[in-house]
Formats: sequence, C-alpha cells, structure tokens
Amino acid sequence: MEKIALKALLPEFPRQRGSLISILREVNESFGYVSEEDVDEIAEYLNITANQVFGVLTFYSELRTKPAGEKTIKFCVGPSCYLKGIEKIEKAFQENLGVNMGETTPDGKFTLTPTHCNGTCAQSPMLQVDGTIYGQVKPEDAPKIVEEWRK
Ligand code: FES
Repeated sequence: MEKIALKALLPEFPRQRGSLISILREVNESFGYVSEEDVDEIAEYLNITANQVFGVLTFYSELRTKPAGEKTIKFCVGPSCYLKGIEKIEKAFQENLGVNMGETTPDGKFTLTPTHCNGTCAQSPMLQVDGTIYGQVKPEDAPKIVEEWRK
C-alpha cells in the first residue's frame, strides 16, 4: 500500500494492541492485502513487533499477504453454508483451478478465499465473485462459474 494511504488510515484506530485485527481487516478490505511494509508501519503505530503483527495476519485465512488475482471467489464459511456443504463446493473450485484456498492461479486471474456470512443465508451455500452472489451453488456449477468470469 502507498505509505500515504496507510498513514491516513491508522489514526482512525486507537493506538493500542487491541486495534490490531481491526486495522488488518481494514487494510485488507481497502487494498486487497497487507504488505510487509504495512506490517512494519502497523507495528510501529501500535508499538509492538512486526512478528506480533505478522502472527495475527497469518492466523486469519481471510487476510492476505500478497495481492489477489483479478477476480476473487469468496466462499461463505458461516454456519448455514457450512451445514449445506460449502466445503464440497470449495473443493470443486480448487480442483477446477488447480489452487488451494488462499491461493491465486498462476495466470493471476482467480484467487480463492473464505469469507464471513453476509446475511444471505437463505441462499446457502453461497459464494461471491467480485460482489456478485451465487446462491444454492452445487459442486458441478464450478466450471460454468469459472468460465463466466474468465472472459
Ligand atoms: S452462513 Fe453463508 S450466507 Fe449466512
């Protein structure tokens, strides 16, 4: 992230260790990932070590340390989607694209990532591609959805 953008964002959070996860989520949401440079700056702001920041950053699977691909496919890991088999759908996409969750395809086109419930549980199991919601998805839908967004 550009230094100036992070510098503008940090003062919105209390300068205490308890702000760490909120800062990381905000940076990740706003800029797509948290860079090594960001880790150092956040550590300095909160007066903790870069290792402490990195430990939290790598603990949460929805936080990224590298830029995402052109399209991010987000799989809801909320309870309703879990009960309705989101794991089988994740597996179908992983096999179709040849990458694991949290990874980006070698051509930089797709990133697979978990996401939290957005309240559309009636559509479980649910995934999103660049904000477009796909509800009641089945594993066999994976190739069609990938092709739709490959263009
Ligand atoms: S649990 Fe997946 S949309 Fe609510």
